Amino acid sequence: MHQVIESLAAVCSERRAAVTRILGDQAFLLGAGHSRPRNYAANTFRFRAASHFLFLTGLSSPGAHLLISGQHARIFVHPDGPDHALWHGPSPSMSQLATSLGCSVEPMSALPNALQNISHVMMLPAADRRACDEMSSLLGRKVTPGVISTHDLPLAQAMIQARLCHDQAALAQMTAAAELTTRAFAAGMAATAPGKLEWSVRAAMEYPLTACGTVPAYNPIVSVHGEVLHNDRSDNTMRDGDLLLVDFGAESTGGWACDVTRTWPVSGTFSPTQRDLYDVVLAAQRAAIDAVTPGVRYRDVHLQACRTIADGLCQLGILKGDVDGLVEDGVHALFFPHGVGHLLGLDVHDMEDLGDLAGYAPGRSRSEQFGLGYLRLDRDLQPGMVVTIEPGFYQVPAILQNPALTHGAADRLNTDVLERFSDVRGIRLEDDILVTDQGHQNLTQSIPIDPDDIQRAVQQGRVPPTGRSVWKWSLARCPAWPQDPPAADQPLA
Ligand code: GLY
Ligand code: MN
Ligand code: MN
Repeated sequence: MHQVIESLAAVCSERRAAVTRILGDQAFLLGAGHSRPRNYAANTFRFRAASHFLFLTGLSSPGAHLLISGQHARIFVHPDGPDHALWHGPSPSMSQLATSLGCSVEPMSALPNALQNISHVMMLPAADRRACDEMSSLLGRKVTPGVISTHDLPLAQAMIQARLCHDQAALAQMTAAAELTTRAFAAGMAATAPGKLEWSVRAAMEYPLTACGTVPAYNPIVSVHGEVLHNDRSDNTMRDGDLLLVDFGAESTGGWACDVTRTWPVSGTFSPTQRDLYDVVLAAQRAAIDAVTPGVRYRDVHLQACRTIADGLCQLGILKGDVDGLVEDGVHALFFPHGVGHLLGLDVHDMEDLGDLAGYAPGRSRSEQFGLGYLRLDRDLQPGMVVTIEPGFYQVPAILQNPALTHGAADRLNTDVLERFSDVRGIRLEDDILVTDQGHQNLTQSIPIDPDDIQRAVQQGRVPPTGRSVWKWSLARCPAWPQDPPAADQPLA
């Protein structure tokens, strides 16, 4: 099945030209990847083309390849078999594809010959073994998932240069993904109530995406155990007194990601201790977002969030001591162990298939310190980049009960005071921030984050809304499962 997922022919042609300008005559081959079986070959996960390929073609077609040699771009696709239309319906012919893609389209059988006439072809390894094996046999050299050879480094660097700062078409997609994500959060907050399973909130949030033909950009986290950082099960029953942490982002129909986290009280009202720690995380998020501006080193944005968390925890009496010293010694990381964010684009952690090549500027590498070492991005910010800002506070038993990690805090950690905050397991607040010429723009600011607005949004799901709605549109227009589908006149993503 070949699907031109957006009419992006002109944009993709410009993107290919930009990469070609960097690489000159050096040829390269990129694969779309394959549908992956769930259990047996004919029962597959939904296909999603590899991001480098998608970026330069706008085509979603399993097994397709893009070969660029100098000024000449050629796309190779698997022609549909004779019974394809029977099982999957008709799909565009090669000449129709060539017209919509603005690029020559040929059958895959022509690719080996095309490669024979080129002496040196770069490629980027796919994340899966099957696509790497296919690339190995096409190019006659070993290709391993996740391993970029020095031979292929110029292509990796050219793709990073092309994808680091987003063009207008990409930003339109990310804005659409953000709007859809906003609808999902409206539905999720309204669906939260004590006694229900976390799954029911997740179902409510996925409904507006499914209703628009798209999917989450990554495995959502919907959990009252927010301290489990990548918790993708939602089996718990939500109880009065729990905080629900939801990390959820839509993928636009063109394949671009959104990535947002909010944390809200299941009861609709924060306890005083929850509210205190929520305010600390919110202050850290606001301070870090305020720091986002061109030329600033992202690691300094992270450190700004760390200092604000450390300062807030000192004010609550959980930590003691000099804020800079606490951050320098990594004491704050007992509660905020991960980095403040990452690049966002076609991938939720954009271009992480290239390891740290995209996230870390040349000459920079990961710290060995616990906490800082998990920072995924250490570049100077440039207009057009989109980054997430997502500080958090967590009580992770595996950290707080590990003397190797806590001994550096010594008497600067007050466990007696900490015990009073036992109704907070995890809080994270995450938004997607575009770096602009003047500073920044928050792409996901319509999702409530102020604690009073959060409470109102959760409470509005239970009783008829009165007074000001926290949403830009009324909840009646939001396709909250299982009610209204999105209106046909509301184009999405
Ligand atoms: N949703 C993954 C992350 O926030 O990094
Ligand atoms: Mn996230
Ligand atoms: Mn994130």
